[in-house]
Amino acid sequence: MTQDEQKQLVAREALRYIVEDAWLGVGTGSTANYFIDELAKVKSRIKGTVASSAATAERLKAHGIEVEELNNVSDLPVYIDGADEVTAQGAMIKGGGGALTREKIVAAVARKFVCIADASKKVDVLGKFPLPVEVIPMARSYVARELVRLGGFPAWRMGFTTDNGNVILDVTGLSIVDPFTLEDRINGIAGVVTVGLFARRGADVILLGGESGIETLRPRPAG
Ligand code: 5RP
Repeated sequence: MTQDEQKQLVAREALRYIVEDAWLGVGTGSTANYFIDELAKVKSRIKGTVASSAATAERLKAHGIEVEELNNVSDLPVYIDGADEVTAQGAMIKGGGGALTREKIVAAVARKFVCIADASKKVDVLGKFPLPVEVIPMARSYVARELVRLGGFPAWRMGFTTDNGNVILDVTGLSIVDPFTLEDRINGIAGVVTVGLFARRGADVILLGGESGIETLRPRPAG
């Protein structure tokens, strides 16, 4: 099975988690795109969606799926999104597609986070994938120096602007053994909008597509 087939497999499986007649949070990236294509087939079952990026909103609308502003949605039972890396404990690196801030906001509102990924995304320790940090443009150099002080090697994602008008630093060289502490530490740097570490609000359910089918992990009891 190819990596894309594994993504499609978990995208289809994720349909089991949608809640009838309720709003659904939808993530960003290639796995989320496969999910959107599957969701289109059952769109009448949900009230509508909240999108985690402009690209996702566009794809949902192209399928005739309603997209609502998060500000108008008070109850979001489920959010379905991919990850760049995920641990069995549900901590993730996200933001490879640059949508980390809106993803984190939608995830914060959602009662359940369902992470969909191919098996290559599962790791024991986060940090091999460069950690994205969304930064206010005028703070770029300062934040980069602070990230070096934390032991990382930040690289400016050239030619990329987030949906919020900011820049991204991709940080390599970090072995993230304590994602909770690092998430707080990086979020505390002036000028940082969001770090793509999702530990405080991690995944409740992880669907991993592998050679032998789907593995389901439930790191959080409620998930
Ligand atoms: C986008 C993300 C994505 O969820 C992450 O990059 C995974 O993408 P893909 O499904 O294409 O592997 O965080 O900001």
